[in-house]
Amino acid sequence: MPDDPFFAVYDRDVPAYGLAPSAELASFLSQCPQRGRSSGAGAALDLGAALDLGAGAGRDTLALAAAGLQVTAVDASARGLAQLRQRAADRGCAERVETIEADVRRFEIPASRYAAICATTVLDHIPAADVPALWQRIVAGLADDGVLYVEVHTTDDPGSPTGAGASSRAPVSETARWVVNYFPPGELLRLAASSPRLRVLRYEERYEWDYTHGPEHLHGKAILLATTSASHPEWYGHPVAFPRRGA
Ligand SMILES: C[S@@+](CC[C@H](N)C(=O)[O-])C[C@H]1O[C@@H](n2cnc3c(N)ncnc32)[C@H](O)[C@@H]1O
Repeated sequence: MPDDPFFAVYDRDVPAYGLAPSAELASFLSQCPQRGRSSGAGAALDLGAALDLGAGAGRDTLALAAAGLQVTAVDASARGLAQLRQRAADRGCAERVETIEADVRRFEIPASRYAAICATTVLDHIPAADVPALWQRIVAGLADDGVLYVEVHTTDDPGSPTGAGASSRAPVSETARWVVNYFPPGELLRLAASSPRLRVLRYEERYEWDYTHGPEHLHGKAILLATTSASHPEWYGHPVAFPRRGA
């Protein structure tokens, strides 16, 4: 599909980005499992809904589904979503995964709907001017006990035309030209801090080597894990610090 910039990286025996879920998201899901929430007197137990924006071949979608959530995976790449469906079928969790081929900017996010929303390296693929409106809808889409995981490429990335990345000699990703919005230092944190509904559990800026597609390359990343300000889950950090004995 010529208008799918990610077709080539997903149309491989081993699709891009591997199967390991985002580390901090996986850590949160293992410490704070979705125990199921009653959806009203006499109603069936609702394990909760999750939304994976820019899901790709679904490494985070599969982790959310394995945690018992009903996941809606949205991506512009039909090939990535086909790989995701195959992986979900292979793991016996196809019934917990719905895929929607759409531009994340046009996907309607119902307010207060999701126990988990994940946007792993997709906000950097849309123009900066489009981020605030989508961000508002993401934050509004969280249920009161919801968790948000966001990851973006930063200007530390060697593919960035500005910032520290611009003078880096480290190898650049084969998909770098599709990153149109490298986040400057602190930008993702500022976005989170501008949302009174959010409580930041973890924010980090770091480098990561990527061996999952094309020639090995370096990334500059920012990651954010947040809940709503009303939520106080049993989260002991990543790595876990001082958990309860015997837990
Ligand atoms: C770097 S990949 C990350 C995939 C996945 N989140 C992961 O971490 O494995 C970025 C994904 O965002 C998708 N994407 C980019 N722009 C998009 C848009 N405007 N709407 C929907 N998906 C988009 C691409 O198709 C691609 O699958």
